[in-house]
Amino acid sequence: MTNKKITIKDVAKQSGVSIATVSQILNGNDDKFSPKTVEKVIAAKKALNYEPDYFARRMIVKKSKTIGVLVPDITNPFFGTLLSGIEKILYRENFVTILCNADSDDQRESAYLEELSRRGVDGFIIASSAISNEAINQNLRQKNRPFIVLDQKKAEGFSDAVLSDDFTGGKIAAQHLKDLGHQQVAVVLPKTATENIQTRLAGFRSIYGTNLEVIDASLSKIGGQAAVPKVLSSKVTGIFAINDEIAFGLYYGLKEAGKKIPDDYSIVGYDNIDMAAYVTPELTTVAQPVLKIGETAAQLLLERIAQPDKAWDEIMLPVQLKLRKSTAPLKSFS
Ligand code: RIB
Repeated sequence: MTNKKITIKDVAKQSGVSIATVSQILNGNDDKFSPKTVEKVIAAKKALNYEPDYFARRMIVKKSKTIGVLVPDITNPFFGTLLSGIEKILYRENFVTILCNADSDDQRESAYLEELSRRGVDGFIIASSAISNEAINQNLRQKNRPFIVLDQKKAEGFSDAVLSDDFTGGKIAAQHLKDLGHQQVAVVLPKTATENIQTRLAGFRSIYGTNLEVIDASLSKIGGQAAVPKVLSSKVTGIFAINDEIAFGLYYGLKEAGKKIPDDYSIVGYDNIDMAAYVTPELTTVAQPVLKIGETAAQLLLERIAQPDKAWDEIMLPVQLKLRKSTAPLKSFS
């Protein structure tokens, strides 16, 4: 038995046609050939177990059928769901997804961008903000490489983008706490928040004005837990956690401090990741259509690849308040 790799040459030899004919037929351009020739080539491919070499194929057709996706933090389930949406569409269209986790590190992100470019991906989906506009310019715009931005990466009018309505999200979270009678409120979010998250804060402020505490925390459970001492030393009764992970961290820290949700603190999260329905009490949160955001981004990117000169598309998807058990009327209010 030999380990020799089967090549297109072997398929051509076995089917008695030229390499060019095999290449055309296996790349889907079979309409110029007789059904008999197509059949012979397909039969030889099957008999030899021939797998086309995608790198070699790329040299010829200038397409790799791969898409690079840059996310800031794969440990956050939000990005897992986002990726499922992206992959669902790409898989259906016979593209392979290459996931790069930037871990919120701009150097790593730039390196990934360059590497993906060298590997000849057909397009990029960028959900991470660490990458500088300069790197995007150098690696993508100037080279006319198709890409789309979403979530933490700001759209600047020079690319396609998928957004979700962060302003309304912040506003409905605030309105809910206000309707429950909470006068003293806090928003827990990173000090150096990305634009989408700052827009949520702006939406929240549109109801509460400047009458609120802003508590710094990373977008994680650990961040939420670390924010608890500041919550405890304040007079707040209503808390807007800028993502669900922060809310879960708050749950943990507040429980350790002997506090009860929603009796002592009402908490509204953001994202509506799966776990939100499984914690106790179930988390009231602003639901983003995460799967749909991913699907839409992949769809738009494929359209851009097919029509490089079409006008930029920017799609804004709606959010909604998912009422559960982590919020309640302020005691003196009810
Ligand atoms: O949980 C991750 C958060 O960061 C989400 O709210 C998402 O929108 C992202 O920006």
